[in-house]
Amino acid sequence: MEKFVIHGTGPLEGSVRISGAKNAALPIMCATILTKDKITLEDVPELKDVTLLTEVLRGLGVKIEHPEPNTYIFDASEITNTTTGADLMSKMRASFCVMGPLIGRMGRTENSLPGGCAIGTRPIDLHLKGFRALGCSVRTEHGMVCAKTDHLKGSTVYLDFPSVGATENIMMAAVLADGETTIDNAAMEPEIVDLSNFLNKMGAQVRGAGTSTIKIKGVKELHGCRHQIIPDRIEAGTYMVAVAATGGNINIENVITSHMRPVIAKLKEAGVEIYENGDTINVISNGTIESFDIKTLPYPGMPTDMQAQFMALATLAKGTSVIIETVFENRFMHVDELNRMGANIRIDGKNAIVQGVHKLRGGKVRATDLRCGAALVIAALTVDGKTEIEDIYHIERGYENLIEKLEGLGAHVVREG
Ligand code: EPU
Repeated sequence: MEKFVIHGTGPLEGSVRISGAKNAALPIMCATILTKDKITLEDVPELKDVTLLTEVLRGLGVKIEHPEPNTYIFDASEITNTTTGADLMSKMRASFCVMGPLIGRMGRTENSLPGGCAIGTRPIDLHLKGFRALGCSVRTEHGMVCAKTDHLKGSTVYLDFPSVGATENIMMAAVLADGETTIDNAAMEPEIVDLSNFLNKMGAQVRGAGTSTIKIKGVKELHGCRHQIIPDRIEAGTYMVAVAATGGNINIENVITSHMRPVIAKLKEAGVEIYENGDTINVISNGTIESFDIKTLPYPGMPTDMQAQFMALATLAKGTSVIIETVFENRFMHVDELNRMGANIRIDGKNAIVQGVHKLRGGKVRATDLRCGAALVIAALTVDGKTEIEDIYHIERGYENLIEKLEGLGAHVVREG
């Protein structure tokens, strides 16, 4: 069994460069289906999820070159298949993002229904509502969801919740529709803005990304371009919380600081010093954490993808912190694992009540999902002694070169198995 073995080594010191954002790269890779021309993407993080999505895209007929690390060239001149089966879909939920571009380019797509996952049931009703509004007939049968249209037509879609994936899928279908589409109550995440910028480079006419109303004027065809993926705000936040927990002084390089507002605000409440300088953030912590409260929300609120990491920090705070998860229904899988390390966390519905303890202890724990894994790594870095984290494939789905980056900050992490 592959695992990380981490020995707490005290304060983190040094610099770390943030990689391209996983959650921006995945939908943008799917959007390459929308043109027959070649697309070059730079700063694509080298992650398991990226490799899996290249398999999905190759299965559809997309030719992919990988001339150097973090650079991929996509050639979707021929789409030979519009179906993604259960084997790939079950390995990566984000494969569902091929549906919008396939509808835009081919007028049809058949996908195995993505199931629930460790963080909740994660329905796709809002994606399907959008496809129907654009004129698709959508059927779900035998575990497949099939969408088909002879005439993709712009329309108005109101999202009952600002779903990131639904906003992306509807945008990618609508860019080649006849007429104008409006998405109301759209997600406003930076990854949506990156997708919009990319689509516009391809010749699309998308306006309003980053606000709650996105307008898309359909065009006849899109063309090739080169695009650099934005830095990963969740990876940056994870290193910021790590140094808050261990104490120390690190520079986080290649960040868009405006994307980090909720994380910066909350760390300052916890007593951490933060200085912004261009695309670098300097984080200084003496290791003493004040308690804080968190409520996860769609952007620009506190990202749900930072909730587990902040909970790891709260376990070591002076006093009681309350963490409320409002985005996902069941994103508290890390609680049992942190409690196994000596934390004092109680769940009450959507709330976690975290009573700070003086020290966590090592032992064997399990990454139940990506951000749970990140929280356990942070917790392990604070322990006097050894922690073994199992099921690290979850962590490797989302953090590029985690071991090298942590070692560069003076941590002692070994991958075994
Ligand atoms: N939802 C619905 N119906 C839908 C779609 C979503 O009810 O049709 C609900 C979900 O069940 C969930 C909430 O809406 O409770 C938010 O889901 P959303 O669609 O916004 O999330 P997503 O697109 O599935 C992306 C990220 C997640 C991140 C969320 C929220 C990617 C590939 N994934 O998921 O990233 O947590 O947005 O910001 O972009 C991660 O990186 O660890 C991760 C899980």
